[in-house]
Amino acid sequence: MSLNLQQRRYLKLMDIDVYVPRHVVAVPEPAPGAVPAGQGATQLALVATASTPVRPAVRNVSAAAAVEWEDIRRQVPACTRCGLHQERTQTVFGVGNPCAQWLIIGEAPGAEEDKQGEPFVGRAGQLLNAMLAAVGLKREEVFIANILKCRPPKNRDPKPDEAAACAPFLQKQIELIQPRIILALGRIAAQNLLHTDTPIGRMRGQRYEYPEPKVPVVVTYHPAYLLRSPTQKRKVWEDLQMAMGILREQA
Ligand code: URA
Repeated sequence: MSLNLQQRRYLKLMDIDVYVPRHVVAVPEPAPGAVPAGQGATQLALVATASTPVRPAVRNVSAAAAVEWEDIRRQVPACTRCGLHQERTQTVFGVGNPCAQWLIIGEAPGAEEDKQGEPFVGRAGQLLNAMLAAVGLKREEVFIANILKCRPPKNRDPKPDEAAACAPFLQKQIELIQPRIILALGRIAAQNLLHTDTPIGRMRGQRYEYPEPKVPVVVTYHPAYLLRSPTQKRKVWEDLQMAMGILREQA
């Protein structure tokens, strides 16, 4: 299936070249005497294979789940389970569709997120939005959360005891959202979710499973890393397509 204009625009924004079948591209008339190039399918260059966006399931939050959402929405801002509560401006609960098919999990709030109370609102967030749009998803259609709900000072890596203290909140969110796919952004998210210390480069390209509730997990690079290493964006595009493939299998 071909990519629509908006997806192309976002792929461009991600600096990912998309090759299109030449027969849909205006080709200048060959010079007299020139050997004509091949036709139709034989002329295909590499065609990006993004598929029909898998739309969010139409599911409503049950009355019981609504009560539990309300519960953790009250508990998170009051949390003092680890030392990070002392330095935070506010907690960052997560944002998006509580019945989303896609759950996106990052590391921890940064300075801007701590200020605004919403995950991925800085430059990395803009790139995340572009990544989502490239597979036909709007930010508000997915749910975005982090391993930690509070900002670690100077954006240092979360400590194991902080991640452990925060894990029950994310666990509850996963149970309530019942996502069909989890996209883990970066090493910290992947390693904490899947309880491993495998380097991220080795985790990419494989399908994992969150144990309970069982949800397929795809690991990809963190958008902040992509800002520093834009040549890796194509790999993220491959990971996103893999996630789309998993969703299609389930459909
Ligand atoms: N990086 C993350 O991992 N999460 C955010 O919310 C922002 C930046």
